[in-house]
Amino acid sequence: MTETPTTVEFTPERLATAQEMIARYPQGRQKSALLPLLHLAQEQWGWLSPEVMDYVARMLEIQAIEVYEVATFYTMFHLDPVGKHVIEYCRTGPCCLMGGEEVYDYLKQKLGIQAGETTPDQKFTLKEVECLAACGMGPVFQIREKYYMHLTRERVDEIIDELSR
Ligand code: FES
Repeated sequence: MTETPTTVEFTPERLATAQEMIARYPQGRQKSALLPLLHLAQEQWGWLSPEVMDYVARMLEIQAIEVYEVATFYTMFHLDPVGKHVIEYCRTGPCCLMGGEEVYDYLKQKLGIQAGETTPDQKFTLKEVECLAACGMGPVFQIREKYYMHLTRERVDEIIDELSR
């Protein structure tokens, strides 16, 4: 479960990592560290609130809108609080052709939520994404760095039941 941050400041360890990331780029090019910093921020707070994005903007000495533009472009960044597991379900053609639609309907029914929603127990958030570059192994969804491929109803049962424990 994620919460609205009360104090927006990296932990000392993450702050050191952030400074090391920024130092990789020449003076005046700090914006190049934006993506890794957003990942770092999402790792700490679970999602990117406006306060967190403003904090990142101040660190990089850029306009807040420049951070918002990037954070809203990539689906891997969460702009609202999310559950413990964020399921990023591929909704692109090849996966659909391999039964992705039916499995997706089953997943939504099993979780009792629609895309963009979080289960009442805060365990799962469902997001729709475009191609995850595993088209030959679809249907597929991703949770953090892990891919779940060749999905079927039975496989969805196994995965969700295991992650629910
Ligand atoms: Fe689903 Fe490419 S279409 S991974």
